[in-house]
Amino acid sequence: MKADPAPLPTILVLASGSGTNLQALIDASRDRDFPGDIVAVGCNKPGAFALERAAQANIKTFVINHKDYGSREEFDGALMAEIRRHNPDLIVLAGFMRILTEDFVRAFRGKMLNIHPSLLPAYTGLNTHQRVLEAGDKVHGVSIHFVTEELDGGPVIAQAEVAVQENDTPDSLAERVQQQEHVLYPIVVRWFCEGRIQLASDGVLFDGAPLSQPMRLPAS
Ligand code: GRF
Repeated sequence: MKADPAPLPTILVLASGSGTNLQALIDASRDRDFPGDIVAVGCNKPGAFALERAAQANIKTFVINHKDYGSREEFDGALMAEIRRHNPDLIVLAGFMRILTEDFVRAFRGKMLNIHPSLLPAYTGLNTHQRVLEAGDKVHGVSIHFVTEELDGGPVIAQAEVAVQENDTPDSLAERVQQQEHVLYPIVVRWFCEGRIQLASDGVLFDGAPLSQPMRLPAS
């Protein structure tokens, strides 16, 4: 008799909005050889479309509404308790628009990824597309990084570039960046689940060796 296959690493996705990155991960996870299992989707906004996408894929959902909590610490405490119930191997922030406390980030060190719409370290924070256009940059993009205490400042694992076009608006640029997000996030989540990437004390290890610069998808 064949032994049961080892259980796949479990993934919990946190989102706040429309969840197109969540959808890209759900679609990728339908591949028979995808090395991870999305076990739950959490949201801080009741009614977010990400919850609908998860429900349609038969994935458990939960809502921890930040408006129900008097402080960031209380909200993070409730979120942490819910995450611990699922005990995931990986937490994927996919458009999760809450700043997390240091305690929260420390609790899941090395197990939490974020996607940010810029070529970090450039343009941390919000409104990245607008700021790139205002600066007249020719190249923009997306980064996926391990989450550390520094906002949008954790070691970057991979990036994809997007060429800025002359007639771009923040919306048109955002759309092309998002297309790259949907390609890149499943790739990086796959690497994590395969045990290929790890957070070390001073950066990212890829296949056990320090990553001197982020992995890059070619410009689109
Ligand atoms: C993405 O553009 C991501 O880079 C940013 O928030 C957006 C989330 O979009 N952090 P969606 O909810 O995945 O559609």
